[in-house]
Order: sequence, then structure tokens, then C-alpha cells
Amino acid sequence: MGTILAKGLLRAGWSPSDLVLAARRPEGAAAAEQDTGIRTLLDPAEAAAGRDVVVVAVKPKDVPGLVAQLDGVLDGEQVLVSLAAGVPLAVYEAAFPGVPVVRAMPNTPAAVDEAMTAYCASPGTATDALERAAAVLGAVGETIHLSEDLLDAVTAVSGTGPAYVFLLAEAMTEAAIREGLPHHAAEVLVHQTIRGAGRLLSESGKSAFRLRGEVTSPGGTTAAAMHVLEEGGFRALMEDAIRAAAARARELGEESGGRR
Ligand SMILES: NC(=O)c1ccc[n+]([C@@H]2O[C@H](COP(=O)([O-])OP(=O)(O)OC[C@H]3O[C@@H](n4cnc5c(N)ncnc54)[C@H](OP(=O)(O)O)[C@@H]3O)[C@@H](O)[C@H]2O)c1
Repeated sequence: MGTILAKGLLRAGWSPSDLVLAARRPEGAAAAEQDTGIRTLLDPAEAAAGRDVVVVAVKPKDVPGLVAQLDGVLDGEQVLVSLAAGVPLAVYEAAFPGVPVVRAMPNTPAAVDEAMTAYCASPGTATDALERAAAVLGAVGETIHLSEDLLDAVTAVSGTGPAYVFLLAEAMTEAAIREGLPHHAAEVLVHQTIRGAGRLLSESGKSAFRLRGEVTSPGGTTAAAMHVLEEGGFRALMEDAIRAAAARARELGEESGGRR
């Protein structure tokens, strides 16, 4: 996610010299540097010192180690932006008193500047710090400012959400092939259908319910398909999946040393 964001910043007009990355292993640093063209250090303290915005993009379980490495490095002029799923603001507030902290949850469509990122900030974060964080997050897509108690739900909905759509794409493609379509045609049909439906949903101003109604004539083909999905428990399954993802986000936060 760190390199995805960095490449988005470059596309949005940041110069490689504006940015510094950090990785843990020499192979990781070499791969990040090759992928982005941005100088990549093995010492996160050196990478973070004096930077306007410091983005934490390590796995939640690696947050405590990274926080220890950044001890005494950050100051109140900087803003720390954490992308780590489930890790509460309190973890950073305790480690870096006086440093504005933003907790954000982007998603992988950031790679094509279509991210959905929700973020929250530590109490008292100045507008200027918030704007700097939002500018970085907004370089790769849409942003929304929410309260922290909603972030685990966000993780389960939009953070994890692309995988739900990819699973849908896989299932539709397999079914299309079983209906006799050649593999390539099945993929083209499914991918463009998902893309088109997504654009219609976001650009038409109509609700999902209304758009679905518009393609569902009584006794028609869509009605037949919807009946199977509803009878099969599609909605309940989606609810269970999102609940499981939110619960896992909470667990990851606890494993990272976060107090709720
Ligand atoms: N993937 C998603 O869809 C998504 C969406 C939203 C949020 N997130 C969040 O983004 C975070 C990163 O996820 P990811 O999938 O991008 O993980 P990842 O591929 O494992 O990348 C983590 C990076 O952090 C580096 N790192 C770990 N500890 C470090 C340390 N102490 N100092 C310097 N660098 C260190 C690793 O370096 P090495 O390679 O050298 O080990 C690696 O480059 C997670 O917390 C996740 O919850 C992910």
C-alpha cells in the first residue's frame, strides 16, 4: 500500500525528490526503489525526520516495532498518517505526544487513482495538518473524514471491499464459461459489466436499489437471477462477511497494542 500511494503521489505531481520511502529488508528497499524511482532507506527514523507528512504503511503487527524505531524522531510540526488496519490513534498518541495523527483506511483501487479512503484524526489536530494528510490521501482517489469508532467498519466495507468485487468477478466469469462463453469473452463481459455498473452507480445519482429495479422487469431474466440470489442468502452472507472483517480489524488493532 505504501508503494501504491507513493506512485499515486508521483502521478499527482509530487516529484521523486519530495518523497522518501523506508523498507525493512534490503530486498524490500531495492524492490520499492525500482518500482517507484524514489530513494528508499532501511532506517525509518532517517526517512521520517523532518518530513511534513509521515505515512505508516506496515502490517498492523509490525506497528509496535516501527513506533519504537521512531521514538524521539517526530515533532508537532509533522503529521503522522497511519494506514495500518485496526490500529487505533491511541497507539500513536501514546508514543508521540503532541504529534498530530491521522488514521486512514484506503483501498487498492488507489493504484488507478480510484481509492476510497476514510480517515479520522486525533483530537485537536490543526486544520493545516489535516489538510496536508488529506492532500496525500486524496492524491489517489476520494476521501471522507469520519469518527474513529467507524474505522473498523470502513475497513470491512471499503478497505476489504475490492476483494468482494473480485470474488464476484471470478464467480461470474466461471459461470459464464460454464454457459459456453470462451474464456476471453467471459472476462471481457464480466469486467466491463462491473466497470459500467460501478460508473452508473457513482455517476447517475440513483441508488443501487433504484438502478436494480430499472433492470428487473417482472418475470424477466434479472428477476429470475435475483430470486436465486435472495433465496440463497446473498444478503445475509454479505452481512456475515463484513461482520467477520470488522471483527478481524478490531483483533488486529488489539494485537498491535491498541487500547479500545
Ligand atoms: N493492501 C490493502 O488493500 C490495504 C488497504 C488498506 C490498508 N492497508 C494497510 O496497509 C498496511 C500495509 O499493507 P501491505 O499489504 O502494503 O503490506 P506489505 O506489502 O507487507 O508492506 C509493508 C512494508 O512495510 C515495510 N516495513 C515493515 N516494517 C518496517 C520497519 N520497521 N521499517 C521500515 N519498513 C518496514 C516492509 O518492508 P520489507 O518489504 O522490507 O519487509 C514492506 O515494504 C497494512 O497495515 C494494511 O492494513 C492495506
